[in-house]
Amino acid sequence: MAKTKTAFFCQDCGHESPKWVGKCPNCGSWNTFVEELVTKSGEATFRAGQGDHRPNKPKPSDSLEADKQPRIPMHDKELDRVLGGGLVQGSVTLFGGEPGIGKSTLMLQMGLEQRNEKILYVSGEESEEQIRMRIERVGISHPGCFVLMETNVEAILNHTVELDPDILIIDSIQTLFHPAVESTQGSVSQVRECAGRLVRYAKESGTAIFIIGHVTKDGNIAGPKLLEHMVDTVLQFEGDRHHVYRLLRTSKNRFGSTHELGIYEMSGSGLRAVDNPSQILIGERDNQLSGVAIAATVEGMRPMLIEVQALVSSAVYGTPQRSTTGFDIRRLNMLLAVLEKRCGFNLAMKDVFLNIAGGIRMDDPAMDLAVISAILSSGQDIAIPPLTCFTGEVGLSGEIRPVPRIEQRIQEAAKMGFEEIYISSYNKSLQIETKNIRIIPVKRVDEFFSKLFG
Ligand code: TYD
Ligand code: MG
Repeated sequence: MAKTKTAFFCQDCGHESPKWVGKCPNCGSWNTFVEELVTKSGEATFRAGQGDHRPNKPKPSDSLEADKQPRIPMHDKELDRVLGGGLVQGSVTLFGGEPGIGKSTLMLQMGLEQRNEKILYVSGEESEEQIRMRIERVGISHPGCFVLMETNVEAILNHTVELDPDILIIDSIQTLFHPAVESTQGSVSQVRECAGRLVRYAKESGTAIFIIGHVTKDGNIAGPKLLEHMVDTVLQFEGDRHHVYRLLRTSKNRFGSTHELGIYEMSGSGLRAVDNPSQILIGERDNQLSGVAIAATVEGMRPMLIEVQALVSSAVYGTPQRSTTGFDIRRLNMLLAVLEKRCGFNLAMKDVFLNIAGGIRMDDPAMDLAVISAILSSGQDIAIPPLTCFTGEVGLSGEIRPVPRIEQRIQEAAKMGFEEIYISSYNKSLQIETKNIRIIPVKRVDEFFSKLFG
């Protein structure tokens, strides 16, 4: 049996020290020492020419075999889509998100819905009673879904070997510990050691593993960035805790595209997939108010229409306030500067508030045109016609720039019954028929303003 001990290693240069030190005596960098397990065993490490360490052979590049990775079809369509068409056996997926967003709910629900698989859900965070209540709330029962309260990674793996589940869920990596590592749960060394053990188990046994990880305020998965490199797939669950919609994005996927997006709604009985996001994100369209504009966006591969609301009012205090939800505040400041400098709108002494419907965070630059429309509409107090929508990026010199997947955006707008859509005139060569929707190409922000408000 290999004997384990630990030592501290500089993460920059690999210098070893028996104790933690603040500054590396070798390369001089600060705070880079991390505790790691050192295996003292008699096993020979690889040396060229000794033994046969060649399980894989060089192959001619035209004789490679097609991907035959066996996949477990997911009962949940959205999860299936973001994973790239099913869960690959033996894969490790990191599932990150802020506390309270619904990670445990989605994972438990997934475990209960996979009727044909044996599942082990390991919780280090909640009591049996809490999990029982959650299962009751979700209202699904599956006797092949087992629950274990444990935080010692070795004990978890012993149970797992015995039970031999198809899918193992770890809730969460920050609560696990390895008995040979002295630092506390959630520390870099613990997170890395435990994740390392789990990844090795997944590859040896073919069990698919989901590892839940909490995300820190700045949006990184707590623990080392290294964790993201160790796993095959990284999923991020996001949204505003006070709203019901949640987005599931892939930021890394060894077995599929990272452009897929899943949308869920948190209900009284668990998370429900949202089939037609545009329908709910554009709100009621009957009595038209100023400051509301609809953006035709594409998130991942999915086109959707989403409502943008702006409120522009005279600043009560000396310094005007700018606040956003679901939109990058720096981007808003840039758009305000463009409106001010290139089009002569006086916004310097105005408070500006901006909201994206549903508490969803949008990264698509094509939101710009809808954002400035909403701001101009509120500033001028003129409502935008209800069946008009916008898609386009705004550049620093006030030009309206083309955006990708323009056909998809126009089709989605037409499908949702919109009558006109403003796009960049640089979006040339449209490959679609546009009978039901009028396309209005615009070049510059000032030209756009006069076309929209006449
Ligand atoms: P949870 O899955 O515990 O979040 P995480 O594991 O990411 O910390 O979800 C927490 C929230 O979800 C909590 O505020 C209660 C709410 N919730 C519902 O609204 N409906 C439900 O059916 C369930 C199970 C939870
Ligand atoms: Mg949880």
